[in-house]
Amino acid sequence: MKNKKVIFSNFLQKIDNNDFVKEIIDGLSSKQKYIPSKFFYDKKGSGLFDEITKLDEYYPTRTEKSILKNIAPQIAGNLINKDIVELGNGDGSKMHILLSAAREDVLKSILYLPVDYSQAYIKKTTGVFENDFPEIKIHGIVADFLSQIDMIPRRSTRLYCFFGSTLGNFTSEQAEKFIKNIRACMQKGDEFLLGIDMVKDKSILERTYNDSQQVTSEFNKNILRVANKIAETNFNINDFEHLAYFNEAESRIEMHLKANKELKITSPHISGNIIINKGETIHTENSHKYSTGYIKNLAESCNFKILDVYTDEKKWFSVVHFAV
Ligand code: AVI
Repeated sequence: MKNKKVIFSNFLQKIDNNDFVKEIIDGLSSKQKYIPSKFFYDKKGSGLFDEITKLDEYYPTRTEKSILKNIAPQIAGNLINKDIVELGNGDGSKMHILLSAAREDVLKSILYLPVDYSQAYIKKTTGVFENDFPEIKIHGIVADFLSQIDMIPRRSTRLYCFFGSTLGNFTSEQAEKFIKNIRACMQKGDEFLLGIDMVKDKSILERTYNDSQQVTSEFNKNILRVANKIAETNFNINDFEHLAYFNEAESRIEMHLKANKELKITSPHISGNIIINKGETIHTENSHKYSTGYIKNLAESCNFKILDVYTDEKKWFSVVHFAV
């Protein structure tokens, strides 16, 4: 029998494919060409990202998970009657760690609201949670959490979670606006767990995004296939090299695709061609790396209390626990 404790909403229906075409063409027509990093995550790209998280060089996922495992008993002890709003739940494995430490009576009292852009991730997570935590109520929400947080229904006090240092992939302005949005939706008693990757030695960071098996390179190049599908461009991934380096001034890893010859890119959605010179790059991603100073400033500018900053032995990753 189907579990009646699971319901779904999709707030994305209104987004038009023409908007995606326009975003890609606008990016390719800019002085510094770019493709927004959200276009990494088609089915193939999401699979490649899952592979990245398991690479030896890619420490963020396993480090964050080890932190969550350590704090799970403490966090799970405070979850009675809470609505857990997880923004960008991905495969749900981080929430799984926290909920595995919860008692049955706590699980029974929780409403878990995974919110993701990807319907596939929402279905996957709810399926696993239905099976592993049959006591829990689930409301899966397909939405753009950058602009639709205020549409999430409220039943009780909330624990917001935003793991994976996904914040790092936003521009500084987007990140600030997003956190302020969450803050604006928070009420007395609500809390917020934010997972962020910390700044560290440049050589470690650059190794993380230039793995020896070149999975990150494949992930990066896949964005061109996505552009070809959406905007009907004629990119050939073999015409590009993967480039990932730490930009110290901006405290971020930048990923680019560098053309190894001059290219004429066509699309029925543009008049004329887009010329890409040999050596020119398409900027595909920023991954910001944070400091304790940033955490303090964020708390101040958003009027948060910092309850704790949980970290690992090397202080490579932090899970910040905010309250209002
Ligand atoms: C999803 N995001 C936090 C990853 C990161 O590290 O910025 C995406 C990624 N890009 C290359 N490797 C992983």
